Amino acid sequence: MKKKLVSMILATAMVAATLVGCGNSGSSETTAPAAEAPAAEAEAPAAEEPAAEEPAAEAPAAATGNKVGVSMPTKDLQRWNQDGSNMQKELEAAGYEVDLQYASNDPATQVSQIENMINGGCSVLVIAAIEGDSLSTVLEGAKTAGIPVIAYDRLIMNTDAVSYYATFDNYMVGTKQGQYIVDALDLENAAGPFNMEITAGDPGDNNAGYFYQGAIDVLQPYIDAGKIVIPSGQTEFADVATPLWSTETAQSRMENILSSNYADGTQLDICLCSNDSTSLGVQNALAANYTGNYPVVTGQDCDMANVKNMIAGKQSMSIFKDTRTLASQVVKMVGQILNGETVDVNNTTDYDNGTGIIPSFLCEPVFADVNNYKELLIDSGYYTEADLQ
Ligand code: GAL
Repeated sequence: MKKKLVSMILATAMVAATLVGCGNSGSSETTAPAAEAPAAEAEAPAAEEPAAEEPAAEAPAAATGNKVGVSMPTKDLQRWNQDGSNMQKELEAAGYEVDLQYASNDPATQVSQIENMINGGCSVLVIAAIEGDSLSTVLEGAKTAGIPVIAYDRLIMNTDAVSYYATFDNYMVGTKQGQYIVDALDLENAAGPFNMEITAGDPGDNNAGYFYQGAIDVLQPYIDAGKIVIPSGQTEFADVATPLWSTETAQSRMENILSSNYADGTQLDICLCSNDSTSLGVQNALAANYTGNYPVVTGQDCDMANVKNMIAGKQSMSIFKDTRTLASQVVKMVGQILNGETVDVNNTTDYDNGTGIIPSFLCEPVFADVNNYKELLIDSGYYTEADLQ
């Protein structure tokens, strides 16, 4: 089941990357100066210094110049604004020039922005791909120019131009969501059956398959035992994926599921949602179309709107991926690359991008709910109390 599912996920991701290649036609969003960027302005805390468990990757030849290209997917999903502004702030503080671009979730825009970075003299590229399979051609240019590429948060697929990958442990995000459901409903001891519906992420985003698989691997024994049932019958990744992580798309799909399977008063017990933007859409659908006992609802990213909903009891949990930690780690890797030093990685086994294993640094995702958000998010300076009113 697992091997079949993973290969289907990868196949779906590659097909979807072809079909959804044009994306929306939004214009490119060149970033405003960091001061105008929304969200977290808090100083990034020094990244943890975990011991590198793996032999450090071979350092590429030291690049010349100190200009760093940072390519982010969109400003429309909260976290990327924080990722971009955190990296810009830290890179500039370290003396680098930064070309930070946002591509409005349009793959063609991202390609042209990356081309401009290559031609504009960038010495390193840091890229969060909109579609992991859409950058092979443009990154040939980076490779020819000797520009190392760090895949940021999302693995860039099917190109040997990627030198390193920096992310959070994506599979662990899913297993934490699955385990939360097991614990919240005491699936070990409860009789069930519990009705569940699944909302996964963008099929063009390599991460989405890991989030989905991590959760399903935890929940599969309960599904096999009949303790968890999926009334809509939508269980395969391709059937539950949400293009571009769209809140609106997740909402309309859940509205259809509710009207087709729950209008007769059937109880919905679990909404497994891979991240906060899709979870928000599911919550909107529940608010307007569901009157039964409120289900367990998962998420990821601790977006501001979702933390407010956790406090209000509309979302059960999220996963905190401190974008400051990831940004700090990437800035450190940029420095190591540009100084010709050995680049610290802690995973050289899990992430094959289709051309081979990419040396990676995985940060640890953290469980968040109404009981620990103050310590995680406010005490750490990620949000202020006012942000969450
Ligand atoms: C994923 C990312 C998640 C989620 C999603 C939408 O690649 O790892 O944190 O937010 O994109 O931005």
